[in-house]
Order: sequence, then C-alpha cells, then structure tokens
Amino acid sequence: AAESLVDSFGRRIDYLRVSVTDRCDLRCNYCLPEGFRDFATRSSILSPDEIARLVGIFSSMGVSRVRLTGGEPLVRADIVEIARLISAKPGIQDLSLSTNATQLAHFAFSLRDAGVSRLNVSLDSLDRDRFRHITGSDRLECVLAGLAEARRAGFSPIKLNMVVLNAESVSEIEAMWLFARENGFVLRVIEGMPVGFTAQSMSVVDLHQWVRQFSSRQALVPQVSVHGGPARYWHCTKSGSSIGVITPMSQHFCADCNRVRLTAEGVLLLCLGQEDRVDLRSLLRAGADDDEIKRSIRTGISAKPERHHFGEQPAKIVRFMAQTGG
Ligand code: GTP
Ligand code: 5AD
Ligand code: SF4
Repeated sequence: AAESLVDSFGRRIDYLRVSVTDRCDLRCNYCLPEGFRDFATRSSILSPDEIARLVGIFSSMGVSRVRLTGGEPLVRADIVEIARLISAKPGIQDLSLSTNATQLAHFAFSLRDAGVSRLNVSLDSLDRDRFRHITGSDRLECVLAGLAEARRAGFSPIKLNMVVLNAESVSEIEAMWLFARENGFVLRVIEGMPVGFTAQSMSVVDLHQWVRQFSSRQALVPQVSVHGGPARYWHCTKSGSSIGVITPMSQHFCADCNRVRLTAEGVLLLCLGQEDRVDLRSLLRAGADDDEIKRSIRTGISAKPERHHFGEQPAKIVRFMAQTGG
C-alpha cells in the first residue's frame, strides 16, 4: 500500500484483529462469565459487506494481515462468506482465525477454501474433567475432532493456545507439548490477563520465570520471531519442535505492538487493555465516504496508548475478553 499507519510511539500498525461476534458456545471462566446475557444484537453487529469495506480501507492504509476472532467466530453462520470477502481484498496477504474448534470439523475445509491460511485453537487442557471445569462444556472430543480435520484441510501452522491458570495447568504443559509435537501443532502457553469479571480475582502464573527454568532443563534455544506478535518462541533441537510463550503480565510486548482491533459492533479499539476507541460503525451507517473513515482511523491510531495496565488496582477495564477477541 502507498500509505502506512504509524502511531505516536513510532509503531507501525499492519495487523487488524476483526471480532465477528461477542457470542461463544463455551464459557471459559477467564473469558466470558456464566450467565452473561448482554450480547450485541443482530442489527448492531457489522454485516459481511460492512466488515469487508472497513478491511478494504485498512488495507489501503497499510494493513496486510487480518485475524478473525470472536467470541467464537464459528458461531456466525456467515463466517465463510466473511473470510472469502476479506481474502479477496488485494492488500490482504495473510488471513488467520482464532477458534475454540468445537465446530471446526464442520468448517475446516470451507475456511481453507475461503482463504484462511493459519489457525490458532484454544485448548487449555487435554483432561476431560478439567476441560469441562474450565469451559463449562463436555465437548473436548469435538475440539479434538476439529483439530484433526484442520490438519487434513492443510492449515499451516496450527497453533494451540493454552492459557496457564494455576499450578494444575503448569503441570499439564509437558503433556500438552507432547500432544502438539505428535500432531504437528505448535503449542503456546499464555499468561491469563485479568479483564472483566476476572480482574479482581485472577491469579497470574509467571511464565517468563517458568520458561527460563524449562528451557534450561529441556535445552531449548530462543528463536528469532518472524512475524512479530505477542509470542516468543523457543526451539528444541532434540525433538525438532517449538514452544511459544505469551507473557502480557510478566514481560509485556507493547513496545513492539503492531495491531488494533475491530469489535463485532464496528468499534475500533486501539489497545486490548485500554478503553480508547473510535466508533466506525456510526460513520459507516451515516454514509461517510472512505476519506472520512480514513481520517477517523488516523486520528485513532495517533492516540493509540503506549501499553496496557492489566493487573493494576483498582482494575479499570470492564469489558470481557470475548468482547474484544483477545
Ligand atoms: P499470531 O501471532 O498471528 O499467530 O496470533 P496471536 O498470537 O497474536 O493471536 P491469538 O488470537 O492466538 O492470541 C494469542 C494470545 O495472545 C491471546 O491470549 C491473546 O489475548 C493474546 N494477544 C493477542 N494480541 C495481543 C495484544 O495485542 N496484546 C496483548 N496483551 N495480548 C494479545
Ligand atoms: N487472558 C489471556 N488470554 C485469553 N484468552 C481469552 N481470555 C484470555 C485472558 N483473560 C485467549 C483465548 C484465545 C485467545 C484469542 O485469547 O485462549 O485462544
Ligand atoms: Fe498493543 Fe495494547 Fe496489546 Fe500492548 S496491550 S501489545 S499496546 S494492544
């Protein structure tokens, strides 16, 4: 693209996370509370054409990579159409999707066909009881079937996102790593971010500390990151596999931030951990032309906050992770 988006800290924004819904068929306790009812309405969320128009505008401003998120993106019946419209945009070189995989067995081939190339799958435990405890659902088998189908459909890479919640999670990391290795997936372990209702109560496992010990025990060497993004990767020469570590709490990566988010309701969120926003849906639905929308996006980007303040008390972010897509 001729243009580029650079914020006031010199960070180049070339990656857009598009949340297509705030709904989810699971209730992971760190993401979406049981009993939550205040979901966006059908008419308030963006249509596939509205999403495609905004993505087109972002791509003309230098965004080349898009990730579809939720809630759970696959609860939207028109997700394949959304993917198709986005990947057809000339400037979009990389389209990826983050999913809980409960319905992936059904969608894998059509998503691949619609231009999604990379998949990240949330999977916090391989133990049926723990899976049920964390997600409020008994569908571990569906997730595993979804992963198998995704592999057949040829996504590359397929990453597993494991939020490390407590000592029990820590003791499951090695089993998860083995599972990933055997199936050709890349495991990433993630520090939980205290947001929404978890803000007061979430305990954070320090994965920066953990990986230092783990890497010396397993003879892991740090890998140079290829695409930016939050994960830092370590490589095991013995097994030929890697493990990614995402440490928003113990070692945040905000100085290298390359992204902004579009919510299902068309609000541009400038940082995952801040409330700063631009309402693009209002502009869109008031009939604004591309130049007007671009001006608002530029104003927003120039006000992008330096970093998150998760974990500070009193906690101030009130939205849930499901409302921003992580
Ligand atoms: P790729 O690098 O493209 O594979 O994706 P990703 O790791 O950025 O995306 P994914 O949806 O798999 O998110 C993995 C974890 O990183 C989740 O816990 C997200 O909440 C977290 N994450 C993603 N982007 C950000 C960010 O900008 N800031 C913070 N603090 N966390 C993020
Ligand atoms: N902290 C860290 N990661 C989270 N995710 C959801 N909620 C949180 C949280 N509070 C992760 C999910 C998913 C990704 C998009 O965001 O595990 O894989
Ligand atoms: Fe970027 Fe905000 Fe995420 Fe930090 S918390 S990496 S500034 S979006």
